[in-house]
Amino acid sequence: MKIFLDTANLEAIREYNDMGLVDGITTNPTLLSREGGDPQKAMKAITDLIDGDVSLEVIATDYNGMVEEGRKLRGYGENVVVKCPMTADGLKACKKLSSEDIPVNVTLVFSPSQAILAAKSGARYISPFIGRLDDTSQDGMTLIEDIIEILSNYEYEAEVLVASVRHPMHVVDAAKLGADVVTLPPDVLGKMLKHPLTDKGIKVFLEDWKKLKESP
Ligand code: E4P
Repeated sequence: MKIFLDTANLEAIREYNDMGLVDGITTNPTLLSREGGDPQKAMKAITDLIDGDVSLEVIATDYNGMVEEGRKLRGYGENVVVKCPMTADGLKACKKLSSEDIPVNVTLVFSPSQAILAAKSGARYISPFIGRLDDTSQDGMTLIEDIIEILSNYEYEAEVLVASVRHPMHVVDAAKLGADVVTLPPDVLGKMLKHPLTDKGIKVFLEDWKKLKESP
């Protein structure tokens, strides 16, 4: 399973990239606005820093605007994946950009039927938002299970990119289902790394080593 970081924070990207954990990045307008500064510069910097796929989202909501913006975003680097929303215009833009060898991540997917259409229109990635579904008392992970089952029946290019991840168990459950990619906020990746027994174990080992050195 590939791990993407769901952030525009360069410091966090560097930190986890140095551990070899970052296969790619997803951003969106909210994540970029959280960092402040010039979003164009930030997107270019992320694209330069990471070898893997970097999803950059269009702001336009109409077909022509999305295609034009998508081409510009792709100008930042060969690793750019254009993020288009799951709308009629978004799918039309997905088909057009994909035909120009510009990969597209169809975002804001909330149902299996939407995922089928995104796959058919040539999406490289399909992004179901599981945390936002959980927030409405629906089971986000069931959506992932359904989409994986549906795509496995056919030869679509699309990979399932599990988005809106809120905690480590989302990642574990997505991995059990065989999801292609999960995109994680840095704090979720940090929580995956930690276990109190690891910290306790190190402490005890160091104390015992100290006793050994102090003994005659
Ligand atoms: C990723 O591509 C999505 O934009 C992101 O995971 C959304 O997460 P949120 O629901 O926590 O905003």
